[in-house]
Amino acid sequence: MSHLGTEATGKITTQVIQSRKQKGEKITALTAYDYPSARLVDEAGIDIILVGDSLSNVVLGHENTLSVTLDDMLVFARAVRRGTKRALVVGDMPFGSYHINEERALESAVRYIKEGGVEAVKIEGGRTRALLVERLVENEIPVMGHIGLTPQSLHKMGGYKVQGKTLNSAQNLIEDAVTLEHAGIFALVLEGIPEEIACLITERISIPTIGIGAGSHCDGQILVYSDLLGLTFGHQPKFVRKYVDLKSIINQALTKYVLDIKEGKFPADSESYHMSLEVVTKLKR
Ligand code: KIV
Repeated sequence: MSHLGTEATGKITTQVIQSRKQKGEKITALTAYDYPSARLVDEAGIDIILVGDSLSNVVLGHENTLSVTLDDMLVFARAVRRGTKRALVVGDMPFGSYHINEERALESAVRYIKEGGVEAVKIEGGRTRALLVERLVENEIPVMGHIGLTPQSLHKMGGYKVQGKTLNSAQNLIEDAVTLEHAGIFALVLEGIPEEIACLITERISIPTIGIGAGSHCDGQILVYSDLLGLTFGHQPKFVRKYVDLKSIINQALTKYVLDIKEGKFPADSESYHMSLEVVTKLKR
């Protein structure tokens, strides 16, 4: 078996992602949670598939991302892995899987790589995660950072609030980004922050920034699969662009299915199996 040739196959690696920034090429990223969503996202040519802990809300119906466990995430990560050929698959470390101590965090990340088949992990938080990032990177695990409106800090933030609006908090975000870069992250998600700070951070650090609700100056953009396709229930933040309203399309299809059964229109003759008239005649005797 050859270990060479990722460039020839077009496989996206963390190095490819980093080279995009140097070449000034935008990075595309999206979440996916299962085999069909991963196949569709991969086949659309998206660079990074994040197995996001947003699946806690959008797939499992929890109120926030705090409830999902590493064992849950591993089931979805494996399905995404099976559906992905080209994109870089990043596993979101769920709340609690990296908070207790570095040993447990390393153990969680190793499980993600070995059992979930992800190629990198994402952790939320600023400079307080720097030592952990160093530890993971030292142990061959690429890490994506995530600062700004970090949903796992919901209770600490007192709700989902745009971060970095004051001078002090903006300076803190810049400091976080620089410290995480030095610690070894390969890319940084900037969520729910003013465009101006995202732009400053993007200029200040040499690794790519991937924005979500952080304006257009980031090196790439990420959204939640279900939001983009109109498959989420409840409030949508203003940064979400819904490219299609799949919920309505699915609703129309399901309503029609119910009606067709009730009116005897489903199944049609062409959707039914038949036996020869001869056998039917004998059976009826
Ligand atoms: O879990 C998630 O969906 C995320 C976002 C950055 C897309 O973390």
